[in-house]
Amino acid sequence: MSTTKLAIKGGKRSMYAIYPSPLARIEKAVVLTADVLGMIPRIARGKTTIGDGSKIVAKFERAFRELVGSDFSLAMNSGTATLHSAYFAVGVGPGHEVIVPAYTWHASATPVLQCGATPVFCDVDPRTLTADPDDIERRITDRTKAICVVHVWGNPTEMDRIMEIADRHDIAVVEDCSHAHGGVYKGKALGTWGAVGCFSLNAGKAVDAGEGGIAVTDSAELFDRMLILGHFGRIKRGQAADTFDFGDMSLGLKYRPHQCAMHLARASLKRLSGLNRRCGRSWEALSAELVGVRGIRAPETLPGATRGGYQAFVLVYEGADMGGLSREEFVKTVRREGAPLTVDRYSKVNFTYGMLHKAPLFTQVHRPTLGGGCYDPTRSWEDTVQEVCLPVCEKLADQLVSFPRLNTGSTRFARGCGRAIRKVLEATIPADSGRDNDRAEPTKVRKTQPAVEPGRSKARQSDVVVSA
Ligand SMILES: Cc1ncc(COP(=O)(O)O)c(C=O)c1O
Repeated sequence: MSTTKLAIKGGKRSMYAIYPSPLARIEKAVVLTADVLGMIPRIARGKTTIGDGSKIVAKFERAFRELVGSDFSLAMNSGTATLHSAYFAVGVGPGHEVIVPAYTWHASATPVLQCGATPVFCDVDPRTLTADPDDIERRITDRTKAICVVHVWGNPTEMDRIMEIADRHDIAVVEDCSHAHGGVYKGKALGTWGAVGCFSLNAGKAVDAGEGGIAVTDSAELFDRMLILGHFGRIKRGQAADTFDFGDMSLGLKYRPHQCAMHLARASLKRLSGLNRRCGRSWEALSAELVGVRGIRAPETLPGATRGGYQAFVLVYEGADMGGLSREEFVKTVRREGAPLTVDRYSKVNFTYGMLHKAPLFTQVHRPTLGGGCYDPTRSWEDTVQEVCLPVCEKLADQLVSFPRLNTGSTRFARGCGRAIRKVLEATIPADSGRDNDRAEPTKVRKTQPAVEPGRSKARQSDVVVSA
């Protein structure tokens, strides 16, 4: 154990910089003000809603298609709406199951209920925190209609293996890319591996519309099916393959985005490559600082993968098992050193229940009494709420800690965060604890490759969307 006195015990703090710095806050306010001022001419024209998907909606959709290189893109008013639309499009309905990793935001799973189907939770790969392909395959039954993968914290899932499994079983893949704008796996943009890629654009996401979402696909029929769910007013002129003849009506939902949100999203998209570059440098600096440090590890980035969007810098704290502090004490002690660490928020749903497979909505709530479409009329409710044991998720639920996405700080700040963690671990994990990390060797830091950038990918354009 080190003799350096911890700040919590009256020693000198590791770092004094504030995150985000006052200057970064001012810069952000100026940028957002400029974006909002840019909206005024649109509003002044007296038309504040766009139902046919034209003008600013079409411009943003085109720019996003260019980013990922997909044939079609459909902007919506939330990421949740894109996930619902994707499940609907691939045909998820009563009697079906959708496999979803238990470590994610609940909106990856809850829209499955809106289709009258059942989410089946799977475990994650402890190296990456993303869905474990082997566990996915174990959970496939003849009811399985789709697999949802989540590139959590911007870290790409092992998509080649997932697609091989899905293709072999003839199951659709929906990618939840809400944390991973601009991420790439083996040369292909995230969102374009599966049948549909879904991106949240809500406040704080790497592409920020305030509230919004966008779905991408290469299938004209899936595009039409998403359109038909919630985009009345655009269906007749906007269909890619003339899949339906509904006139201009949709199926009772209204998922179209606000034009002001699209304006903000378009401005934010132009800043994505800069954000991804800064995050990549900070993530590398933080990870490098932690290589070989007992009690903590940075989740791995798979070979051929490039993170995008980031969302947060999540680490696995293993010190409690080595005779060190509890996770909560560890977080408090690191914070006193000046580093903005928190307990990871997805590892405890509502800060109480552990990960999603433990949440009352999926384990206790008697959904049939609620009416509506949120249960499966083809199965008894008891049959859809079986308890699952997900050992990796259950272990991680007590181990994950998180920094905000360090996109405004310098790499020096990220290194400082790593050093603060190291100081605390060296002072609190007994050298003779006799327990070491499960890893045979320290996690290697992979050099960050540039994420895909707006306008740089091989865009396959379509003229389906009414343009400005
Ligand atoms: C992984 C993930 N999926 C889906 C969503 C839902 O997106 P929205 O809040 O835009 O509906 C979020 C939002 O935080 C998310 O983080």
